[in-house]
Amino acid sequence: MIKDQNPFETHYCEYDAWFDNYDKTYQSELLAVQELLPERGDWVEIGVGSGRFASRLGIKTGVEPADGIATLARERDVTVLKGKAEALPLEDESVDAAFLITTLCFVDELDRTFIEAFRVLRPGGAVIVAFIPKDSQFGELYTRIANEDRFYKRATFYTKEEVFKAMTDAGLLIDRTVQTLTGSPERANDAVEAPTEGHDKGSFIVVRARKL
Ligand SMILES: C[S@@+](CC[C@H](N)C(=O)[O-])C[C@H]1O[C@@H](n2cnc3c(N)ncnc32)[C@H](O)[C@@H]1O
Repeated sequence: MIKDQNPFETHYCEYDAWFDNYDKTYQSELLAVQELLPERGDWVEIGVGSGRFASRLGIKTGVEPADGIATLARERDVTVLKGKAEALPLEDESVDAAFLITTLCFVDELDRTFIEAFRVLRPGGAVIVAFIPKDSQFGELYTRIANEDRFYKRATFYTKEEVFKAMTDAGLLIDRTVQTLTGSPERANDAVEAPTEGHDKGSFIVVRARKL
């Protein structure tokens, strides 16, 4: 049997080209994450991918399991540690902020991901999660096309309630949410959208939560 190849090892340039082809969508997403940036300190992005967000947000360190896509993050001056969200290669209480940006749908274990993020955070630190909910217009589209898409066929989308519960079960206290991409996916790249408060209508939700 031929092993199903990891597209983040083999087709990472195709993944990275999305950001150039959908620049306005990317800018809308960046603005939403920027809205919830915590105080500066030691920041890490878990599942840093090609470093498109890390390099723009000033996140100097990333964790990434796929060596292929990590080469692009390193070219963008991000220090990449090989590892997974479920077993972070980081000491207890060693970071001030941990970001998970469109990575949640690719992790193996949702609960374990937040338990690990909690472990590595210093008291007062923040987790910033940006994700596409299953119950959103983009979530429904990606679920529909998953069979034909080399990236999304490996994804598991979660509802907002499932994500918020996993975060609070890990001991995190949610303090604010913002959203963007509130219209139809077909029109999302027509114009950059400013983020708005809450999580009731966006396809891209950003949640900030604290470790007290
Ligand atoms: C959709 S990409 C997002 C990359 C980057 N955060 C961004 O927004 O461009 C998902 C990334 O998660 C990584 N990934 C897959 N499984 C993971 C796991 N268990 N823990 C951490 N990262 C994982 C993939 O290799 C890929 O780089």
